[in-house]
Amino acid sequence: MLFRRSCRQSAVRHSPFFGHSDLGISHLPAFCLFVLLSFCFAVILASCRTQAPFADAAFQPDNPLAMKPIVSHKTVAYRAAKLFMRGANLGNYLEVPPGQNWGVTVSADDFAAMRTEGFDHVRVPVGWHHYAGPAPDFTLSPGIFSLVDFVVTNALKNKLAVMINIHHFDELDTNPAVATDEFLKIWEQIAAHYQRYPAQLAFELDNEPHAKATTAVMNPIDARTIAAIRRTNPRRTIFVEPGNWGSIDELKNLVLPPDDNVIVSIHCYEPFYFTHQGATWAGDDVKPLKHIQFPGPPATPLVLDPSPALNRWVTNWIYRYNTLPPETNPSGPIAFGAKIKFARAWSDYYGRPVHLGEFGAYANADEQSRANFYAAFRQVLDNQKIGWAIWDWSAAFRYWDKQNRQPMPGMHEALFGKSK
Ligand code: BGC
Repeated sequence: MLFRRSCRQSAVRHSPFFGHSDLGISHLPAFCLFVLLSFCFAVILASCRTQAPFADAAFQPDNPLAMKPIVSHKTVAYRAAKLFMRGANLGNYLEVPPGQNWGVTVSADDFAAMRTEGFDHVRVPVGWHHYAGPAPDFTLSPGIFSLVDFVVTNALKNKLAVMINIHHFDELDTNPAVATDEFLKIWEQIAAHYQRYPAQLAFELDNEPHAKATTAVMNPIDARTIAAIRRTNPRRTIFVEPGNWGSIDELKNLVLPPDDNVIVSIHCYEPFYFTHQGATWAGDDVKPLKHIQFPGPPATPLVLDPSPALNRWVTNWIYRYNTLPPETNPSGPIAFGAKIKFARAWSDYYGRPVHLGEFGAYANADEQSRANFYAAFRQVLDNQKIGWAIWDWSAAFRYWDKQNRQPMPGMHEALFGKSK
């Protein structure tokens, strides 16, 4: 740990002065020097101690050395993180390609409802790239700006902080070298458009980089994008996600510029076989899954239809789900607790606030299990003092029952701890 290491080095370096006093220093100037140096030494030790509450003794920093810790935890980013504690994703809306409709409509009432429910921010996935003209300028159409302006303005009007991102920019994942110019140009335009907006508006560079957009590949691209945004938005809060879909395991590969207004966004959908049971877009493992409860084990062991054949690791997971007690059951808080704790320790060491930008459970799961899951996850996040945004507001992982204008059963209590 860099800061701790430097404390230890200074202790070693200064110890000979104590030795000098043993060597018979009796005249006044030497004594004064000794007192002065002892005082300095004490100050250095005290300043080391003031950092100690942030450090987790078990945490081993492993990032490339180019990732410099920011020692102060009083940065603009830490202040900004307080605006983004309890959020909802406005999913399946502005990230949808033009001409398609994924079943979500949004009106000004949605933002008022979010605020009344207790949310303090909204994360807005946007498919800007669908609205970009040809190279080299990649000019964004005014149409997408009016759609995003509507959301941002109504969120701010309802005292919600708001974060806009670039979502599902697949070209960046499949060919980052080629798509970087477009990525930069899109961000230059977004940054120019929103430069006079209040500090409650934040930018998130890229949702869930994955495939060829590894953390190592994205580090320099993100640094260039941050520099480009800073030309028009010197004080805007910027969220950055690590690779492998915003994985917590990828935090160790992040190299961020020494910018004091960057928050790191992570995603966690564990336990995946519970949260994505029956999802059609998340791989073959989860498609045949259903009736998985949270927490396990179920009262009656789950027996899945053997066709199509399930992978060995899925059947093994189901076996453990059916048999292990709640404390060690894979469909339980054990699936995410240690990860979130690691994120906290990483954040403390590197001096970068962390935000969980997506977690959630598909509405295929039974209502009680969903409520149990959101409650357990929210509790872990609150314990670790990490801000969060659920996936999602009113789509397939919904909090809000739009038809009946009320939260889905148990969801308000799960997230806010009390009934209204
Ligand atoms: C995707 C959504 C998806 C959700 C859960 C998000 O990042 O944008 O389309 O429903 O993850 O899988």
